[in-house]
Amino acid sequence: MSDHNSLDDIVRYYDDAKESSRLGAGWFQLEQARTQELILRHLPPAPATVVDVGGGAGAYACWLAARGYHVHLIDPVPKHVEQARAASMRQAEHPLASAQVGDARHLPQGDATADAILLLGPLYHLAEREDRLACLREAHRVLRPRGLAWGAGISRFASLFDSLSGGFFDDPAFAPILARDLEDGQHRNSTGNPLYFTDAFFHRPGELSRDFLAAGFQVVEIVAIEGPGWLARDFDRLWNDPLQRERMLAAVRKVEREPSVLGASSHIMAIGRK
Ligand SMILES: C[S@@+](CC[C@H](N)C(=O)[O-])C[C@H]1O[C@@H](n2cnc3c(N)ncnc32)[C@H](O)[C@@H]1O
Repeated sequence: MSDHNSLDDIVRYYDDAKESSRLGAGWFQLEQARTQELILRHLPPAPATVVDVGGGAGAYACWLAARGYHVHLIDPVPKHVEQARAASMRQAEHPLASAQVGDARHLPQGDATADAILLLGPLYHLAEREDRLACLREAHRVLRPRGLAWGAGISRFASLFDSLSGGFFDDPAFAPILARDLEDGQHRNSTGNPLYFTDAFFHRPGELSRDFLAAGFQVVEIVAIEGPGWLARDFDRLWNDPLQRERMLAAVRKVEREPSVLGASSHIMAIGRK
């Protein structure tokens, strides 16, 4: 296991970040709606066992538990696990099966015990390929035969689009971060500015597929999560208008597999079958 980008750095970063409310603001709402859509597209009917690895404060884990799934959440950040437990207690009729501190590279679950595994975080936080493959092999071990894994990657080009549309392209502190992102996908933030995220790896869509294949998965599909929708000017106005929201979702769905557009999405989702 590489000690670059150690779990201590991750814990420190999220101690200051507001992960528990992130998905309720701005274009993250599109990320959430599309992620839910892509999960439901392939998930077997409830009850089935789901392990949400890197589940954060429990947004998807609690949503799935409320739909009748047995959901186990794993996350290395103690604050997130406490928030997930609190969210689980608020839905007493449909609590999480468990929520515990842990690392995607060493899951506590037994072999072939899960029907579905969510990896919506670890694959970009683990900067070294050997660690990403260890995470995917663990998911493969824990899945039952023909079980499915959903893995989110951040696009290699996300920080280019984000800096241009977000107005920080000309920050001299950001220039070397962007140059390295575009060079090899290794995102390094030594500025201390949380706007520039934490150390991570940004995938090309083909690299995410290759990681899944190398860990023994068949790739069922590789799709854009937000597509270009996250770059919409005046996102909230469109999202809060039901007609425009549906038009945006339909447009994103229409181009979700278009190779020439995939890298313009902030996140890419690979779905793999054991
Ligand atoms: C941006 S949050 C996403 C949370 C949630 N899955 C979502 O999609 O909204 C990324 C999560 O990945 C977790 N994470 C980072 N490294 C991890 C690792 N090695 N094993 C498991 N989870 C990890 C972080 O603690 C954090 O909760």
